[in-house]
Amino acid sequence: MLKGLQGKTVLVTGAAGGIGRAACDRLLAEGARVVAVDLNVEELRRAYGHDVVECVAADLTTAAGAAACVTAAERFGGLDLAFLNAGVEGVAANVADFSEKNFDHVFNINVRGSFLCAQAVVRHMLQRAKGGGILFTASIAGLKCNPTTAVYNASKHAVVGLAKCLASEVGAKGIRVNVLCPGVVDTRMIHSLEVSMGAASGVGTDTMQQAMRTGNALGRYGTAEEIAAIAAWILSDEAPYCHGETFTIGGGLMAS
Ligand SMILES: NC(=O)c1ccc[n+]([C@@H]2O[C@H](COP(=O)([O-])OP(=O)(O)OC[C@H]3O[C@@H](n4cnc5c(N)ncnc54)[C@H](O)[C@@H]3O)[C@@H](O)[C@H]2O)c1
Repeated sequence: MLKGLQGKTVLVTGAAGGIGRAACDRLLAEGARVVAVDLNVEELRRAYGHDVVECVAADLTTAAGAAACVTAAERFGGLDLAFLNAGVEGVAANVADFSEKNFDHVFNINVRGSFLCAQAVVRHMLQRAKGGGILFTASIAGLKCNPTTAVYNASKHAVVGLAKCLASEVGAKGIRVNVLCPGVVDTRMIHSLEVSMGAASGVGTDTMQQAMRTGNALGRYGTAEEIAAIAAWILSDEAPYCHGETFTIGGGLMAS
């Protein structure tokens, strides 16, 4: 068991998705209570007992949605930790072809949503005055460049910047802030990108999938459980001196 997660209340956003769901499972196995937030939480409600999980259906691009995450934690006595993980990939396209609608969609959830959630959570933690921990999910795309995913990459660069600035503000208040940068992880999102990146680059889905799977030194996609294990460790008391850090987890996919 990881130190310091038992009895803690952890917010997980994007909880119905691949990495978010794996994080909920891992945190529950470590003895935490979870506030699980996503656009649709019906499946989560069926899967989890109400005693240790509060499921919240919310759109995190709104301040009301972000506030609902905090309110939902009240029955557990407030939030100790937050994994701000919700995100979207949009449709890959070259910059010259990118639509304004697609741009707004990606920035709305990845940047505005991450900001609004972080703001609601940090206000709550400062008021509670018990310290805490916040972990964002950005991406290796937030550290490097790729053709056809400029908007996603730009949005994830913004998440890395947000996390580092927040870390510089609240470390002295006992709130640890870090950012996770996964490489390619076997979830719905990566399969959507295989299709749209394959189309935008003209090589097609199969060739793109092969290139993405084998474009790291381990030669495979990571699993959501592998990412969740690192997330739980960073949030736990096993990592008390990790603050303002950017954790890349990409099987040797280089962030340059
Ligand atoms: N899968 C990968 O290869 C990969 C790599 C690097 C980073 N990431 C990042 O990891 C995070 C999780 O992605 P995933 O792979 O599990 O994808 P996913 O699509 O399975 O999960 C994302 C979840 O976010 C939720 N979400 C989207 N918009 C929302 C909104 N407005 N309000 C509330 N919830 C919303 C979705 O409903 C979904 O359940 C994302 O931030 C993604 O950018 C993924």
